[in-house]
Amino acid sequence: MKAKILKALREVGDGYLSGAVLCEKFGVSRQAIWKNIATLKEIGYEFESVSNKGYKLIFVPDTLYGPEIESRLPEASFCKKVISFDTTDSTNLQAKKAAELGEPEGTIVVADEQTAGRGRRGRDWDSVHGTGIYMSILLRPQTDPDKVSCLTLLAALAVSDVLREDCGVQVQIKWPNDIVIGGKKLCGILTEMSSEEGYINRVVVGIGINANMESFPEELQSKATSVFLETGQKIDRAGLTAAVAERFGGYYLTYMKNRSFREFLEPYNDRLVNRDKEVKIYYGMIESAKPEEIETGIARGIDENGALLVEVDGQVREVVSGEVSVRGVMDYV
Ligand code: BTN
Repeated sequence: MKAKILKALREVGDGYLSGAVLCEKFGVSRQAIWKNIATLKEIGYEFESVSNKGYKLIFVPDTLYGPEIESRLPEASFCKKVISFDTTDSTNLQAKKAAELGEPEGTIVVADEQTAGRGRRGRDWDSVHGTGIYMSILLRPQTDPDKVSCLTLLAALAVSDVLREDCGVQVQIKWPNDIVIGGKKLCGILTEMSSEEGYINRVVVGIGINANMESFPEELQSKATSVFLETGQKIDRAGLTAAVAERFGGYYLTYMKNRSFREFLEPYNDRLVNRDKEVKIYYGMIESAKPEEIETGIARGIDENGALLVEVDGQVREVVSGEVSVRGVMDYV
C-alpha cells in the first residue's frame, strides 16, 4: 500500500491527492491511508496536507526503503517483491534465506548497510551506511548450472547501461563482473548458486555499487571510486536500484527465452576495458601466485559461453570465470 501511495503521489507531481481519492483508488479505508502516511512520515517522508485538496509529497528521504523502490518500478515489473533492511549482514545471505522460505524469482533484497558484505574469492565488501547500493536478486533459472556464469555478465551489462544512461558515467566492464572507470572500481557483482545433480535450486546475483561515497579509506583510494566522485552529483539510490533491477530482469528474461548470450555479445565486448590489451591471467590467488601460475596474453573479448578469449603465444585460450583472476599487466585494469 505504501508503494502504491508513493507512486500515486509522485504521478500527480506538483498536484495534490485527497484521502478520499486514494481510498477509492486502492479500495481501502481512510484510516488505512492515514496510517500508511503516518508510517512514511516516521521514516522521514514529508507531505504537505491542505484541507479540501489533500496530500502532496514534498520530501523523499535518501534510503533504500522497499516501498520507495517498489514505487519506482513499472506495473508489470520483473521484480515481484522488495525486501529491505536498514542494516543486515549481507543481502546475498538474506536473499538465500528468502529463497529457502519460498520467495519467488524476481525478489530483490536491498540494504542501506551490510555488516558482513561479501566479495568474490572470499573477500569482504565494504558497505558504508547510506552511501552505497547493496542489492541481491533472487533467480530460479531452469537451465544448466554451466549457463549461470552468463548471468553475472548480464548483470554487469545492465549496471553499466544504467550508470551510463542515468548517471552519465562512461563506465566499462572488467571481465567478468567489475564495473570500472579510469582504472578504478565502481561496482562489483557476486553471483552465488545452489544446485544439485545438474538442477539449479536458486541463484543470487549480488550487486554492490559505490554510489554516493565522498571518500574511501586510504588503502582503497587508488582502486575504488564512486558515482559521486566521478560526477560531483549525489544520485538517487532508490531510483537507480529500481532501474538496475528492471534492466537486469529484461536481459535475464531474454537470455532465458533464447537460451543464448549471442545478442549480448557485441554490447558486452564493446564495453570490455581490456579488449585488445595485454593482461595477466592468475590461476590461483593473486597475492600468492607462483610465476608458473601466471600467464600473459592479449584479451580478445568473450565468447558465447561467457569465457574470456586470451591470445597467448599465438594461441587462443578460453579463460573461464571462477577459475582465474585477470589483471592489467601494470595494474588492476
Ligand atoms: C566483488 O567485486 O568482489 C563482488 C562484490 C559484491 C558485493 C555485493 S553488495 C550486495 C551483495 N551482498 C554481498 O554480500 N555481496 C554483494
